[in-house]
Amino acid sequence: IEVNLCFLSPKPTLEDARSWTISFEKVMKSAAGRSCFRQFLRTEFSEENMMFWLACEELKKETNKTVVEEKVRQIYEDFISILSPKEVRWHHGRTEDLINRNMLEPTSHTFDDAQQQIYTLMQRDSYPRFINSATYTDLLKGLEDPPPEP
Ligand SMILES: *[C@@H]1O[C@H](CO)[C@@H](O)[C@H](O)[C@H]1NC(C)=O
Repeated sequence: IEVNLCFLSPKPTLEDARSWTISFEKVMKSAAGRSCFRQFLRTEFSEENMMFWLACEELKKETNKTVVEEKVRQIYEDFISILSPKEVRWHHGRTEDLINRNMLEPTSHTFDDAQQQIYTLMQRDSYPRFINSATYTDLLKGLEDPPPEP
């Protein structure tokens, strides 16, 4: 049996897990929600969207200029080529132009626009499938009816 990591990392409360049907925002604001959603994306081979989004969140917290520049370069190398244009319809190349321009002067907000687009993409595209997926429904079932103690 394949382990459903949604029970583990970290384990959500039933209330938390149930709230994820309300909105994508509820998923993304919960550590367990982000982790479970990422687990689902892995089954759809689009985990890199979430990894990019998380990397941008980390970048936004960074204040050290040297580290910011390193992280920007790393994110660019790791994600921009694979996310674009396969996954995302960057607005007719405008986002790509913007990123390339921002790369000349990297800041912790270089990818804000791209991050927002990826968020919208996940919300529109993957989130409705997540809510109907076995990954999520099995989690809810498991939280509602815990297995009997041995
Ligand atoms: C910024 O990070 C670099 C590399 O990690 C480090 O050498 C430097 O001391 C840091 N600068 C500040 C102001 O913390």
